[in-house]
Amino acid sequence: MSLLKVQELKKHYALKGLLNSKAMVKALDGVSFEVKKKQTLAIVGESGCGKSTLAKTLMGLEEETSGQVFFEGVDSKALKGKSLYQTIQMIFQDPYNSLNPRKTAWKIIAEPLLINQKVSQKEAYERACQLMEKVGLRPEMANRYPHMFSGGQRQRLGIARALILNPKILICDEPISALDVSIQAQVLNLLVELQDQLDLTYLFISHDLNVVKHIADTVLVMYLGKVVEYGRREQIFENPQHPYTRALLEASPNIFEPEKEHNPLAGEPPSPLNPPQGCAFHERCPQATERCKSESPDLQERSSRMVSCFNLGS
Ligand SMILES: Nc1ncnc2c1ncn2[C@@H]1O[C@H](COP(=O)(O)OP(=O)(O)OP(=O)(O)O)[C@@H](O)[C@H]1O
Ligand SMILES: [Mg+2]
Repeated sequence: MSLLKVQELKKHYALKGLLNSKAMVKALDGVSFEVKKKQTLAIVGESGCGKSTLAKTLMGLEEETSGQVFFEGVDSKALKGKSLYQTIQMIFQDPYNSLNPRKTAWKIIAEPLLINQKVSQKEAYERACQLMEKVGLRPEMANRYPHMFSGGQRQRLGIARALILNPKILICDEPISALDVSIQAQVLNLLVELQDQLDLTYLFISHDLNVVKHIADTVLVMYLGKVVEYGRREQIFENPQHPYTRALLEASPNIFEPEKEHNPLAGEPPSPLNPPQGCAFHERCPQATERCKSESPDLQERSSRMVSCFNLGS
């Protein structure tokens, strides 16, 4: 059984426009995937395609418009509150603004424990110090405030806080992109070590395809709230099928072949307030046909992965 199963998840935001008109932003528009225990699913796609909305909806921070989420076969609606936090936790992109500046390091880490479980202050302090060591921070720093830590150390604090309730799944929303390049690899290596030691399952949101290639088992490519391609890492990187996946890969500078030309992706995704008819990608797609302008392709299995495109050959 999959540890996490997401079925046709939708999150639509109603926006009030001019003259009381109403508009709908379909931030997630029918997203489905599964993740097995100890695996890493990378979620990629341009800004605004719905990655953080997916993370927040899975965390219960946003209520879904429709669709279902199952953790080990149990509907997430039956897991609200405490048991949800013990199943899934999240670390954020910005380690500067996601930690309370008025709290000391150990209090920040131990807060979920003090709120959700009956533990003494002493026990919470000790557990926080143990976790500080685990994430590579000296426990002597337990009484310092966030501003006394560097960016990388703050992200380590965020990781410790996310782990204190022993969750099974950790969502990492661009966990290293706000950090200095020189410490990105250290934090990434820490995440890989922790996954191994604690049998964690990761949902890893990233713009950096070189990082994704390094750590993902499976990859989910999103475009305007929908999944366009989803499969094993090797399939996606070595034999991408969707024109959007190909364009993303071509736009990504390859650190292993820096001399190879890369082609930045032309144009921008359409506004989710006014998505085009047919396939959402057709206006930027070199292979688009008349059909793509009027019909929206379904996700279907092709060449050992799921892909939504009419023009794949048979
Ligand atoms: N609270 C909200 N109210 C209305 N629209 C929202 C809200 N949150 C997100 N959106 C919209 O939903 C879409 C998806 O946003 P989201 O933040 O999930 O994208 P993202 O893929 O995480 O982008 P980025 O790579 O920039 O972080 C965007 O069009 C965004 O403007
Ligand atoms: Mg985001």
